[in-house]
Amino acid sequence: MKINEKQTEAAKRQSTESMWSSLDKSFVWHPFTQMEQWNQSNSLVIESGEGNYLFDTEGNRYFDGISSLWTNVHGHNHPKINQAIINQAEQIAHCTLLGLASPPSIALAQRLVDITPTGLSKVFYSDSGSSAVEIAIKMAFQYWKNRGQTQKTKFVSLKNAYHGDTLGAVSVGGIDLFHEVFSPLLFSGFSVTPPYLYRDPLGGTEQECCNRAVLELHELLETNHQSIAAMIVEPLVQGAAGMLTYASDYLRKVSELCKEFEVLLIVDEVATGFGRTGTMFACEHEKIHPDLVCLAKGITGGYLPLAATLVTDEIYAMFLADPSEDKQFFHGHTYTGNALAAAAALASIQIFEDDDVITNLAPKIQLIDKELTEKIKPLSFVGDIRQCGMMVGIELVRDKEKAISFACDELIGAQVCHKARDYGVILRPLGDVIVLMPPLSSTKDELVSLIDTVASSILDITGSM
Ligand SMILES: Cc1ncc(COP(=O)(O)O)c(C=O)c1O
Repeated sequence: MKINEKQTEAAKRQSTESMWSSLDKSFVWHPFTQMEQWNQSNSLVIESGEGNYLFDTEGNRYFDGISSLWTNVHGHNHPKINQAIINQAEQIAHCTLLGLASPPSIALAQRLVDITPTGLSKVFYSDSGSSAVEIAIKMAFQYWKNRGQTQKTKFVSLKNAYHGDTLGAVSVGGIDLFHEVFSPLLFSGFSVTPPYLYRDPLGGTEQECCNRAVLELHELLETNHQSIAAMIVEPLVQGAAGMLTYASDYLRKVSELCKEFEVLLIVDEVATGFGRTGTMFACEHEKIHPDLVCLAKGITGGYLPLAATLVTDEIYAMFLADPSEDKQFFHGHTYTGNALAAAAALASIQIFEDDDVITNLAPKIQLIDKELTEKIKPLSFVGDIRQCGMMVGIELVRDKEKAISFACDELIGAQVCHKARDYGVILRPLGDVIVLMPPLSSTKDELVSLIDTVASSILDITGSM
């Protein structure tokens, strides 16, 4: 290409960029975003994706360091998933599951039952993680009602939990910043302290911290189990709270206590599912068998909105009755079990198998650990590093010794992530926690480069402090 042509091309791209950016500001309201602030900057407009990279309208390439908000699994524009969607579109894109059934939704349900923890046998589809959780809550509630135990109506959740943004999911959530404003609309329940040592004022060892959390839950269930329908947890990692990891021991104890006190256990694998923690599902780390499991995000390999709530036979059976008894589950979404999304999910699960994705994760996870220890841990403003498989949170603090946070309005996390773009990496912080959740298909070189970029970005922003 001659220089003039290149300039024209660049000018064309430049004008396309500003056109999209200005149209974006004119018409789109972005999620979890102060639009006043957004409207003052140029929107980064992503036009395409290839493998583990995103490309903006100017042709700039970025490594997708957060898997497009924790969804992408095998990379973008994957030929097998693309083809599965095309093949399905040539058959039919969607038909309702209200009164009809469809091969992709049937085949996927069978596959999900196959790969999830033993005991889960029925699949109820929806289209977002929040909906999958909302459904689990309503199912747990109605299960006890159908059993005639109408006093079991309350839910237990963990402090700092995040289960989505619909009102039921918010009611069992515990992040004040997101949830406070809606508090008059929410139902009340119980919340217990998860074992999170870094900011635990009582200190001690990990095991002591875990024991305290178990004791607190034990006491709560012992006193209140007759009014409790279910407990809901994010297994091993409280993602949106800042990648707060907890000992897998706690998950096992939660499962045991729920069984002991006849409280259903809902495990929200929306973020952790499909390989993120190093196993297909986080439940596998302790071989627990929940009563209900919520799946979304990675279920379609990050292609299309689809979610599922899986339940045991015992729960399902409690909804079976003569129609006149009104025991059926009164819930359903228009796009439930969408055929294109189900085809994408089937293809994604097949790739897990064909490419032996889970086995291949172990060395990548070890490499991340090593790189974090060598390059990130020594940095002056890094207070805590939390890793569970391919999920990482790097907490930046003003005072490393005393674990004192930066002031909120310093927006350190946001500044670091913005800086990373200059190095060609897309990140999104949770407050001052830098989140890394690269696609499972990331190569070792890409992972090293990702962590190098994070180190450089932290140093660039905090260097003069
Ligand atoms: C553990 C967990 N549950 C539920 C949700 C909500 O999922 P969605 O955004 O698809 O509604 C999220 C989203 O981040 C999540 O991390």
